[in-house]
Amino acid sequence: MAHQIEAKPIEQRFARGWHCVGLAADFKDGKPHRIDAFGTRLVAFQGEDGALNVLDAWCPHMGGDLSMGAVEGNTVACPFHGWRYGADGKAAEIPYCKRVPPKAKVRTWHVQEENRLLFVWHDPEGNPPDPQQPIPHYKACFSDNWSPMTLTSWVINTNNRELVDNIADMAHFDVVHGAPPVYFANLFEGHKATQLMVGSSARLSGESRLLSRATYHGPANLFVEMVGAFDGLTIRSMLITCNTPIDLNSFRLFYGVLVERIPGLSDEQNQAIAAQYVEQAQAALLEDVAIWDNKVRIDNPVLCENDGPIYAARRWYQQFYVDVAQIEPDMRESRRFELDFGLDDKPALHHLD
Ligand code: FES
Ligand SMILES: [Fe+2]
Repeated sequence: MAHQIEAKPIEQRFARGWHCVGLAADFKDGKPHRIDAFGTRLVAFQGEDGALNVLDAWCPHMGGDLSMGAVEGNTVACPFHGWRYGADGKAAEIPYCKRVPPKAKVRTWHVQEENRLLFVWHDPEGNPPDPQQPIPHYKACFSDNWSPMTLTSWVINTNNRELVDNIADMAHFDVVHGAPPVYFANLFEGHKATQLMVGSSARLSGESRLLSRATYHGPANLFVEMVGAFDGLTIRSMLITCNTPIDLNSFRLFYGVLVERIPGLSDEQNQAIAAQYVEQAQAALLEDVAIWDNKVRIDNPVLCENDGPIYAARRWYQQFYVDVAQIEPDMRESRRFELDFGLDDKPALHHLD
């Protein structure tokens, strides 16, 4: 009998964790900024005091969009009737009324600036950020030895689980990206999931070997270290790949790239290499998108020997979609997987942190 593909309706829920919303500097211009995420709209603004605030954007008065308003002092003013909301989410002032109704309050979001990016903490239970699930700090983002980060973002029209499946999907790298692995390993542990891959890619390593170590810190932020080659030169790069759900059927993918400066090359030459990496990364992403645009969600994939641990990856990912009290030990336990196609000098399997 043919295999029956199963796909439960996607639950109306978004992952617990830090999610990137863009370059922190972009929000520091004294204007309100619109962020479509988690099935709703948020507004980010910097008040006079310098603090970056993120609030729900839909005004509880009559539904105006705060991100279309204006920053006044430490508040954001609604464009509809001028109610002004402060960092605590409360209406601080109504221009035509002395008494502010106690219900005039919007949800506030925890924010953190790290690696020059701005992150918001999403938690369906409304708890504050979990210190056990931090955003790692990368010195490369602040070092003169590395090119400044270029950040690009794209809207991808599928559920973000399709992207996260990639962490364990060995077999698509050759067919979709032309980068066959000779060694592929995964380590799942707590809130981290790592993929270690040795292979080659005409685009990112030429004739040489490509090594990539990628670690999810939580559900949405993948930090990747890559050693490849370009024109016979060894290239070390860092990629920060962040997915932030817009709704259940789309997410924004942020793609930050840093390339270690090659001594002896000019700034222009180093920047050209970084630019080339961004281009290649975008090309690779479009290859994934072409698949996602023409596939179905499948909860019960039929796997074969040498497939990566798709079920283990999904079990790990599931911890971010249940209440903290419902997290089962096997979602966070340490699990290692290895696929070896004949590599003698295997790199050590550990997280990138
Ligand atoms: S809808 Fe925002 S002030 Fe009226
Ligand atoms: Fe891919």
